[in-house]
Amino acid sequence: MTPYLLIRGGRPLRGEIRVDGMKNAALPILFALILVRDEVTLEDLPPVTDIETTLQILCKMGAETKRLSPNAIRIQTKNVDPDAVPLSLTSTLRGSSYLLGAGLGRFGRIATGIPGGCNFGTRPLDQHFRLLESMGATIECENGILRTTAPRGLHSATVRLDFPSVGATVNGILAAALAEGTTVIANAAREPHIVDLANFLNACGAEISGAGSPCVTIRGVSKLHGTRYRVVPDMIEAGTYLCAACATGGKLRLSNLCPDHLGAVVSPLRKMGAEIVVSEKHLTVERSGNLYGTVLETAPYPGFPTDLQPQFAPLLCLSRGGGRIYERVWKSRFQYTAELCRMGGTVLLADDFADFPGGDRLQGACVRATDLRGGAALLIAGLCAEGETELGEIHHIERGYPDFLKKLTDVGADISKKDEKLTKS
Ligand code: EPZ
Repeated sequence: MTPYLLIRGGRPLRGEIRVDGMKNAALPILFALILVRDEVTLEDLPPVTDIETTLQILCKMGAETKRLSPNAIRIQTKNVDPDAVPLSLTSTLRGSSYLLGAGLGRFGRIATGIPGGCNFGTRPLDQHFRLLESMGATIECENGILRTTAPRGLHSATVRLDFPSVGATVNGILAAALAEGTTVIANAAREPHIVDLANFLNACGAEISGAGSPCVTIRGVSKLHGTRYRVVPDMIEAGTYLCAACATGGKLRLSNLCPDHLGAVVSPLRKMGAEIVVSEKHLTVERSGNLYGTVLETAPYPGFPTDLQPQFAPLLCLSRGGGRIYERVWKSRFQYTAELCRMGGTVLLADDFADFPGGDRLQGACVRATDLRGGAALLIAGLCAEGETELGEIHHIERGYPDFLKKLTDVGADISKKDEKLTKS
């Protein structure tokens, strides 16, 4: 029996939600621990399954961990063994590709399963490989296993990425942190998670500058030391709750966030009719009037994030005038729209955009999460739909949204997790 969510829609969300640490920042930081042999304490580690899987990978490799609270952990990777990587576990998440950079940096070699994660069609690693190869690594892929080694050690390099790939930028930083010389990554990803990884490594003694700009410079150091570090708040979790508040016509105050990271999200929401008040670490969102349509185009940070486009889709369905979403990062990120249509949404798909004529009445239905953010979109649709929605395959949502059931019920959502068979299927 796979669990599902029973959502009774039509209740405006009202109250306060604390945003957790960012999954996509915590993942590279956890793999970066391989480079730091000393003890590290991490705070605001989001309690989600992708983080639990990463901790399991590190523990199976020999890391010693002590849980200090649900969101804080002490870890030491002194005894980590590159030959003890649990290959099948690494194949379940995308972030495991960071083992390449971390393994090369610490041991000069590592093998890992081909990374998994959300299915958006092909998810190539050519930029990762080109960057690591230019630093002296060789990479082979055989029988679903990626093996990398740097027979003569890693050396510095200057590399320009074809696309500002988050993962390739992370792997470059990890590989270069302890490599000899100064590595320069041009056309680097600028996401807040890249900045957070650099801040973490710098707190451990690394010399990384330019993170957050298109050019990251890493001067290799001989050793990193332990530290205590708090993971940056999750802009995607925050953006998801902003959309949920707007979709249900409610009012939410979000705490523990970096409003600066949400510029590209706040501005379209205001255009769509939301009132948003921003202060230093809080943000209040309210939507009491009409919802208007808009056109969104995803782009690498600081553009509108691909990881939030699905959550805007229910808003566009309900809006007056409708709108369009151009997806410029992942070509196959509209799978969730088929499920949204089962709830009464109207979506017209083209090659790299989706049209939403708007004016839809969303109604409860039996749907399934297709991936992490697509699942969040269907959850939002269920919260504002008439009647009951049964949302299956919620393991996708549990990969990236900490305590979302409690957070949502605390602000008035009628939502519960069921273990029995879906009744509407
Ligand atoms: C990260 O994936 C995130 N995952 C994704 O979030 C996010 O959607 C994505 O960045 C873009 O912001 C994690 O941080 C674990 P990319 P990543 O390399 O690193 C192409 C979520 O919902 N590309 O920036 O895999 C690629 O095909 C997840 O939390 C190459 O062509 O993304 C895509 O079109 C889903 N060759 C684009 O670049 C490469 O070698 C962006 O990919 C690498 C990427």
